[in-house]
Amino acid sequence: MPGKYSKPVYVLDLPWQIFDLAIVSALAFFSAAFFWSRSVEGSFGILVMLASAAGFATIFYGSFIEPRRLRVRRYSVGAGERSLTVAFLSDIHVGPYKGRSWVRHVARKTQALKPDVLLLGGDFLYEKAEALPHLAPLKDMRAPLGVYAILGNHDEWKSRTEALAWFEASGIPLLHNRSARVEKDGASVVIAGAEDDWYGETDLAAALRDVGMADLSLVMLHNPDLAHPSAALLQARSGKTVFFSGHTHGGQIRLPFVGSVMRLPHYLGRRYDRGVFSFDGVPLVLGAGLGESGPRARLFCPPEIVLVTVRF
Ligand SMILES: [Fe+2]
Repeated sequence: MPGKYSKPVYVLDLPWQIFDLAIVSALAFFSAAFFWSRSVEGSFGILVMLASAAGFATIFYGSFIEPRRLRVRRYSVGAGERSLTVAFLSDIHVGPYKGRSWVRHVARKTQALKPDVLLLGGDFLYEKAEALPHLAPLKDMRAPLGVYAILGNHDEWKSRTEALAWFEASGIPLLHNRSARVEKDGASVVIAGAEDDWYGETDLAAALRDVGMADLSLVMLHNPDLAHPSAALLQARSGKTVFFSGHTHGGQIRLPFVGSVMRLPHYLGRRYDRGVFSFDGVPLVLGAGLGESGPRARLFCPPEIVLVTVRF
């Protein structure tokens, strides 16, 4: 039965222009402090100069450079003699900060990795449906076992109808509370997905119906808060299953030894920001995403294509 597993967490629900205004103000402040400190005699002036330069450089780098530094993050999960590679892309968030050229760049780099299967884990939009055409390069992506998607909370929030229609026309199947079955070297693989929990109609029982009934099952859950109830539903059927989630952006703006500066948009706790975790023995691969929401910045958390070698 469809149901809500967690309530929305509004971390910084402000118009994106506010964040850009904050960047401009901060850069102006550090520039003014830098030039003022040059007229001050002694070590205090030098200290202010260095602090201003460091502040300016950090904000500039985080806002305009790191969000474009695409990296490939590799994980290996499971055990066994067979293996397949999964490319997992999530949280592209096309809109004010990222457009078609970014999606094309991500698509080309992902294709060059030659994954066996490509999973698109939701949050394609920042907010508005007008940005959907920026996703066009995704339509050209191919993988031997197929390309599959689910929507995320940002897609379903204000643009659910348009996003569903775009995917219907794109030919990329949305695995909303359903699964597909494919074969890899004689092994059966179930690929499943749940619709977003916050603004969609999640039905985990339907999404997981065939999970665990194959040699390997790959399950997309946009919000990692769905991992606990999913693992609980699977129980004995969970063997050789891998969950894939995004949503957290890895915190997006991080500090060394501190982790995410902002609260993460889920109820799992700060430890669950990015990486591989276990839920009742089922590994969850949690990607840091490819775009930004709220502030345009990323710091110590570059956008990532997640490439997972799954052994089974
Ligand atoms: Fe997101």
